This record gives sequence, C-alpha cells and structure tokens, in this order.
Amino acid sequence: MTDKVQELVSKCLQARDMAYCPYSRFPVGAAILTADGAIISGCNVENASYGLTVCAERTAIQRAVVEGHTQFTAIAVTCDIKDRFVGPCGACRQVLMECALLVLSHQFGSDWTVYLTKPDGSYKKTSLNELLPLAFSPADLMKKN
Ligand code: THU
Repeated sequence: MTDKVQELVSKCLQARDMAYCPYSRFPVGAAILTADGAIISGCNVENASYGLTVCAERTAIQRAVVEGHTQFTAIAVTCDIKDRFVGPCGACRQVLMECALLVLSHQFGSDWTVYLTKPDGSYKKTSLNELLPLAFSPADLMKKN
C-alpha cells in the first residue's frame, strides 16, 4: 500500500467515526484524493426527515467542490461491515460519475479508483467504471437526436 492510499484509507475510517446517524445507526466514512494530493473526507449526516440524509460520499464531494477541487483520482469508502467489501449506493455512484466528467473536461482522466474499505483497513480496489457501467452522463444530454 502506498503512503497516500494508506492515508486515504485511514481518513475514511476517521470520517466514519464522525457520522451523524442516530436513525440507521449505520456509520459511513469516505475520503477523496484530489489530483494535487489533498484528501477531503465526509461522513453520512442523517435527518429526522429521513429523506434529507446525505451519504458520506456526497458529503465529501460537496465539501471538495466548495473548497475549489475539480480533479479527483480516488475515493475510499467504509462502514462497519467486517466480513465483506461494501460499495457506494447507486445515487453516490451517479454523483461520482458527474465528478469524473468534471475531471474529463479538465483533460485529466475519466475514472475514479474506488477503495472499498473494511473496518480493519483492508480494502478492495475497484473503479467507478466497474461500479457503474453504461452510465448516464452529462454528455448524453447533448445527444438527444
Ligand atoms: N449511506 C452512505 O453514507 N453511503 C452509501 O453509499 C450508502 C448509505 C448511509 C445513508 C444512511 O445514513 C445510512 O448509510 C443507512 O442507509
């Protein structure tokens, strides 16, 4: 494991400990690696009006964008499940795809590396293209005919 991946994994584990999840009691942590080496983390933030809950991955992305980051290379995601690797929900995969395209428009790349991380820090390395094949994207909006 490189130092950066190690740091990314440990930041997503730390973020999980900050989760506000009194309703589900299902804490999730995420950490995003930007092209310039910054790491931005997020946790799930729930609400008594359940549908207003924001997942850890989207909290991290929104935080990264507001801090001016536009180029992303990887995300690590974790929860409390110990016996298997758990992937981001479908909504978060779609939001990650939008950010991959944000990257593309900056001529950097079109995929994210995704580290599905267990509570002990072990991880499975995958990619957004693997997690969301045949994705709908902003480019499709330009090709209506
Ligand atoms: N959750 C995330 O934070 N990320 C995901 O990808 C899946 C689900 C959160 C939302 C909610 O607070 C809790 O996990 C249970 O669904």
